[in-house]
Amino acid sequence: MNPLRKPILAANWKMHKTIAEAASFAADLQEQIGPLTDREAVIAPPFTAMDAVSRALKLEGYSASAQNCHWEVKGAFTGEISTVMLKDLGCRYVLVGHSERRHIFGETDEMIRAKTAAVFAHGMLPIVCVGELLVERDAGRTSDIVAKQVDKALEGLDSALAEKVVLAYEPVWAIGTGRTATPAQAQEVHAFIRTRLESLFNKEVANRVRILYGGSVKPDNVDALMAEADLDGMLVGGASLEVASFRRIVQFKS
Ligand code: 13P
Repeated sequence: MNPLRKPILAANWKMHKTIAEAASFAADLQEQIGPLTDREAVIAPPFTAMDAVSRALKLEGYSASAQNCHWEVKGAFTGEISTVMLKDLGCRYVLVGHSERRHIFGETDEMIRAKTAAVFAHGMLPIVCVGELLVERDAGRTSDIVAKQVDKALEGLDSALAEKVVLAYEPVWAIGTGRTATPAQAQEVHAFIRTRLESLFNKEVANRVRILYGGSVKPDNVDALMAEADLDGMLVGGASLEVASFRRIVQFKS
């Protein structure tokens, strides 16, 4: 663990859980783990359960994240939710540019840049997701793709904001497939992203930005992933839906 970067273990529930299920998960998780000081646990429920989750998360080290937002403050955008509304709900983080948003819902790098700026503008922290498709990896284009996504998402930020960004490297081929990147594969891309941050901003920013890994993270691979120097946390889908497995991930041993 790098003392400049407190690890984040984040649960992305995607389109799962009712309000009652979400609230009891949040209560049980805190009861089983207790307060956290050397790491953060973050829960990203669906919007419908956000109020219940953010009220239920009371202990130190726990906070709520949204899974998405719109970039405008208000207006005629049927079905969308703004960052002002999310702040109102008690969110600390907002996921931006998740691969399912990019690839199923057609989000562009420009939308993701605008969302990142909107999250900061309303006092929350973006968790900006990047990652290559399998065909892109096989074609040797991983660095190009990830660099473009990082460059574009952070465009226009000054260093003071940039160091507060959280990035999540989620290779699309590892999401929901059971095919985790090896610790070495993940570390290679994380180190590349950190070097990129140094060239976009400076060494200080590069050393402070937390870069999470996501893609088939499970209780039995979290320790090996977290042992890598540039992995500062995990963004977890399937294995975050049960208290027992997410608890083990929060309690990773490095
Ligand atoms: P899985 O952990 O289910 O592979 O999902 C990863 C993810 O998309 C987290 O945002």
